[in-house]
Amino acid sequence: MAKIALIGAGNIGGTLAQLAMRRPYFETVLFDIKPGLAAGKVLDLLQAAAAEGFDASIKGSDDYADIAGADFVIVTAGFPRMLGMSRDDLLGKNAHVITSVGQAIKTHCPGAFVICVTNPLDAMVHLLQHVAQLPDKRIVGMAGDLDSCRFQYFLTQHFNCSVADVQAKVLGGHGDTMVPLTALTTVQGLSLEQHLQRGSLTHADLDALIERTRKGGAEIVGLLQQGSAFYAPAFCALNMAEAVFHGRGLLSYGAAKVTAPQYPVPEPLFVGVPVVLGQGGVVKVEDFPLGAREQQQLAHSIEAVATQIGDLRRLGFLG
Ligand code: APR
Repeated sequence: MAKIALIGAGNIGGTLAQLAMRRPYFETVLFDIKPGLAAGKVLDLLQAAAAEGFDASIKGSDDYADIAGADFVIVTAGFPRMLGMSRDDLLGKNAHVITSVGQAIKTHCPGAFVICVTNPLDAMVHLLQHVAQLPDKRIVGMAGDLDSCRFQYFLTQHFNCSVADVQAKVLGGHGDTMVPLTALTTVQGLSLEQHLQRGSLTHADLDALIERTRKGGAEIVGLLQQGSAFYAPAFCALNMAEAVFHGRGLLSYGAAKVTAPQYPVPEPLFVGVPVVLGQGGVVKVEDFPLGAREQQQLAHSIEAVATQIGDLRRLGFLG
């Protein structure tokens, strides 16, 4: 058994709670600063579990004392992106939220493995680590897995194939500068480069698929008109926690702390890279061979993340 604390009981937090309570090995606490919100959702969930016929171990709370000793924390507290708002617009608003969440983690469960989902992702993970004082291997941001799922789904639509036949890989910052890897993404066993050579994919098709992936979150924001994506983010975040719980050695695309010379960063910072999640948290930060164009895109992505870190510093959030 492990205790998992879900901080934020909004759309993503609520979906996470629904998924987590189905795992018999998790004792789940759903927390929200809004009094009654987490308790109300959990009461509803427990009644849903009764309807389905299983006994769930889940509690809703607005008291941080209830997250004491959590082994896993998934942070979705904050404000979602509204129509016309970029992830960066969220920076100042969510930095205040993440500061208070980080302090609570430091006080109540300093040994937890923490997954941050709150946007703008790369900057929020950086701030959360700083406030909660977590070691590099105990914190990641959930980003690249979600971007990869979006790319994967769009590829199934183009190739008219099953998701089981698509392996998609997306690196970089979780934003418009993300880097879909065309040489390492495969459809039915062939890389996208090979599909380009065979003519089953044109450069125009690929550019459109990449553009749709980059704007994948905004497309959903535009359709919903209120709030942002929550089903896929919740699934991806729980997968990461489970990989650590089971010590699975899963290759994930999370925002992890990287340093030079492994990655061309001006200072240690969080950016979407391949990481192995397993026993104890981040077991290894991998590096894949990148083409010249991808290297350039990753450098651009790193620059965008570094700018956000500079903004956080200027606003006084990093002390
Ligand atoms: N502490 C705890 N919870 C908080 C705090 C705080 N300081 N501030 C806000 N919250 C709660 C809100 O009360 C709300 O219930 O966070 C919840 C956020 O839920 P939603 O607004 O539904 O947002 P959601 O769609 O779940 O997204 C959360 O994840 O993907 C990112 O961009 C997204 O930053 C956003 C976050």
